[in-house]
Amino acid sequence: MKKFKTGAALAAVAMAGAFVLSGCGEGRGSGDATDAAAADGAGFAADAVIGVSLPQQTSENWVLAEDLFNDGLSEAGFEPIVQFANAGVGEQQNQVQAMIERGAEVIVIGAVDGAQLGTQLEAAHAAGITVIAYDRMLTQTPDVDLYVAFDNFQVGVLQGTALLEGLEARKAGASPWNIELIAGSADDANSTPFFEGAMSILQPKIDDGTLNVVSGQTTFDQVATAGWLADNAQRRMDTLLSGFYNDGTELHGVLSPNDTLARAALTAVDSAGLDVPVVTGQDSEVESVRSIMQGIQYSTIYKDTRELVAETIRQVQRAQAGDDFESNDTVNNGVQDVPTFFLPPVIVTQENAVEVFAGDPILEPVMSEFE
Ligand code: BGC
Repeated sequence: MKKFKTGAALAAVAMAGAFVLSGCGEGRGSGDATDAAAADGAGFAADAVIGVSLPQQTSENWVLAEDLFNDGLSEAGFEPIVQFANAGVGEQQNQVQAMIERGAEVIVIGAVDGAQLGTQLEAAHAAGITVIAYDRMLTQTPDVDLYVAFDNFQVGVLQGTALLEGLEARKAGASPWNIELIAGSADDANSTPFFEGAMSILQPKIDDGTLNVVSGQTTFDQVATAGWLADNAQRRMDTLLSGFYNDGTELHGVLSPNDTLARAALTAVDSAGLDVPVVTGQDSEVESVRSIMQGIQYSTIYKDTRELVAETIRQVQRAQAGDDFESNDTVNNGVQDVPTFFLPPVIVTQENAVEVFAGDPILEPVMSEFE
């Protein structure tokens, strides 16, 4: 079992041995027009409306998910409604409410702020709708049936490990290494496990003097990046660089939680005229993958959005067929242990990029630019 907010219990992840949990379809209401059309034993009609509410387009993974959900749900026979909440929490609340009113049987949510949808999720459950948290946990609510994601704590572990390996590979003579830390947006439930996973690797090395966080900013609150916005990360890095690195102090590494913020950090370093530090990332965005192949950004994480969307649609199909969800973990969302299906994230550096991206329709062609 996993506790969402603390790192200690998160280290061991049982990816193998998926087990099924009941709960899918539980709490369904008295039925509506769509239910009436469901075949015997099925959870709901095979052509039901399925709502997908995605957050802002703060990274390429979300943009990819839109088409994948539209195409995949349509091919599976459903009627998809896929929307972004680009204006933030209020827009997402309205979207979810509208999906309930449209008679959706399942609502899949990548939350802007997972703690701000309680009222809408309660209404969804009251209407017999199944709620799936997609990529980001829905927190502080009893009204979520399943969480489908890449293992976020493990993402952080891989990032922390890559930072250390990168420092050894690229800055061998410079130890102890000067680093700075960047975390994601505080309203995204993923940001804490990303950071705690990374710190489970880095904190012991800070404590033993191998790493030196020159600014002294090591708490999540100090290093978080509101809205996952590149401008916010870049502004903070500009301030740190002019405040702590304007006297010849070298910056050797930056823990960045994703590619967008990694590029922001690299831009700040470039404007400050410093040498390129070892910078981590996540999402395998095209621009960062090119940067890695050019020897600039050190690492990224591959979380194949095609797999995450396909797994989510498989779970929707289980609900439609009246079957139990499949899960391989649980994550506590502050109120309950949510059955969770975790996919494994993959670390990518220049060393293994060609191998990891083989078969990816967007990234394999990028690899061929570097043959
Ligand atoms: C996702 C990351 C992404 C970030 C910003 C997180 O919730 O898991 O992959 O980089 O949001 O969009």
